Amino acid sequence: MTKFVLIAALGAIASVSAAGPAAVELGKAGNYAILSKSGISTVPTSDITGNIGVSPIASTAITGFSLKMDSTNTSATSTQVTGSVYAADYATPTPADLTATIGDMEIAYTDAAGRTPPDHLNFGSGDLGGKTLGPGLYKFGSSVIIPTDCFIHGNPTDTWIFQMSGDLTMAANKRVTLVGGALASNIVWQVAGYVEVGAGAHMEGILLVKTAAHFRTDSRLNGRILAQTAVTLQSSTVTQPYLGRFLAQTADILV
Ligand SMILES: *[C@@H]1O[C@H](CO)[C@@H](O)[C@H](O)[C@H]1NC(C)=O
Repeated sequence: MTKFVLIAALGAIASVSAAGPAAVELGKAGNYAILSKSGISTVPTSDITGNIGVSPIASTAITGFSLKMDSTNTSATSTQVTGSVYAADYATPTPADLTATIGDMEIAYTDAAGRTPPDHLNFGSGDLGGKTLGPGLYKFGSSVIIPTDCFIHGNPTDTWIFQMSGDLTMAANKRVTLVGGALASNIVWQVAGYVEVGAGAHMEGILLVKTAAHFRTDSRLNGRILAQTAVTLQSSTVTQPYLGRFLAQTADILV
């Protein structure tokens, strides 16, 4: 039954055509729900599904997680993480793995930032509140705000890249909702500044962030936080889009 449903789903995906930019390859960074070069903090209790890692900063920059080293000293666990925790000062091969992973994160950021030409320039003057966003490359020469709910509408093979030269700010208790089968794994936010997701807000997609990402109390993300400075969580839920990525890749192979 499960197999039948999966095949039926893949058939449906394979029969629709993809729109939007070529996928941004995350490389080894795609194995992480959260990556940071300078630290990850949580005000418990957060709930993360996927691995988290810091490099080049050491494990002392992972705070609030009550880490427990595993027997090999290559990774740690936390009751707030369904997955493993990695830091640059853990035992071999973790430091070299993390160096390569952070390198892949930076390559993905540069790739996303360099895409051209945009399908939409300064869409809505950087205010996505109330908008429905179809697949495409969106370029903003400013910060972007989500002051009210917005929608990302497309099929499971469609792709989105949102490039911005400023910050991405989402108001408290607002929601980005996926419509029509759109997948968080196919949505990239390339943010030159910081990301701030307000208390109780719900965000979707892969956050490639040049500086920090702040998730306020009870905020949620279906996606990944790949940030080049600090990540701060406050009773936040971050869930990596594992199945979506698998389905999208499988569909690509079938098409
Ligand atoms: C892990 O680290 C602890 C504390 O430093 C040490 O006693 C133990 O031998 C290490 N285990 C391995 C497998 O290296």
